[in-house]
Amino acid sequence: MKLLVVATGNPGKLREMQAYLSDSGWELKLKPEDLEIEETGDTFAANACLKASLVAKATGNWAIADDSGLEVDVLNGLPGVYSARYGKTDAERITRLLKELGDEVQRQAQFVCVVAIARPDGAIVLQSEGICRGEILYSPRGDGGFGYDPVFYVPEMQMTFAEMTPELKRSISHRGKAFASLLQKLPDLEG
Ligand code: IMP
Repeated sequence: MKLLVVATGNPGKLREMQAYLSDSGWELKLKPEDLEIEETGDTFAANACLKASLVAKATGNWAIADDSGLEVDVLNGLPGVYSARYGKTDAERITRLLKELGDEVQRQAQFVCVVAIARPDGAIVLQSEGICRGEILYSPRGDGGFGYDPVFYVPEMQMTFAEMTPELKRSISHRGKAFASLLQKLPDLEG
C-alpha cells in the first residue's frame, strides 16, 4: 500500500476521502496534529495546492488536499474561498447568505471542489476540479449534510443537498466529481 497523507486535521474529511479512494491502492493518513496550515490563496486551486505541497514537504510523503466552497453568481462568486469563514456556525453562514440575497430572483450558484496531490518534494503532480450547479432557496429544507446543504437546491433532482441520501449527494456533488476525475488519473502515479 502506498501512503498518502491527507492535508486536514478533520477525521470526517479523512473518512470521506477514504470512501472515494477505497479501491485506489493508497492508504490514507491524517496530517500531524501540530502542523498548522493557513489557507491564504484566493482560489480553491491555490488553497488545495498550497495545503498538499506544505504537508508533503513537512512529512516527506505523498500528500492530498481539497478545497471547496459555494459561489453565488449574483454575488460575483462569493462566499467562494471564504465559505467556511462566512460566519461562526453553519446557521450563521446560511443566515448571512440569505440576508445578502434578500428578494433577489437570480439565485443561481455552484459548489466547487479542487483536489490536489503533491509528491514528497512538494511538487503538484495532479489536480482535478468538480462543479455542481444549483440554486439558493429562500429558506432551508432538509436535515442531512452540512454547511450550506439545506439552501442548495439541485433542480434536476428537485431536492436540496440536505434532502439527499449521502450516496446520491456523492454521485452528483462537486466533491464526488472532483474525486471521480482524480481517480481516473491516479494509476499514472508512482507511490
Ligand atoms: P473546506 O473545503 O474544508 O475549506 O470547506 C469549505 C466550506 O465550504 C465548508 O466549511 C462549507 O461551509 C462549504 N462547503 C463545501 N462543500 C460543501 C458541501 O458539500 N455542502 C455544504 N457546504 C459545503
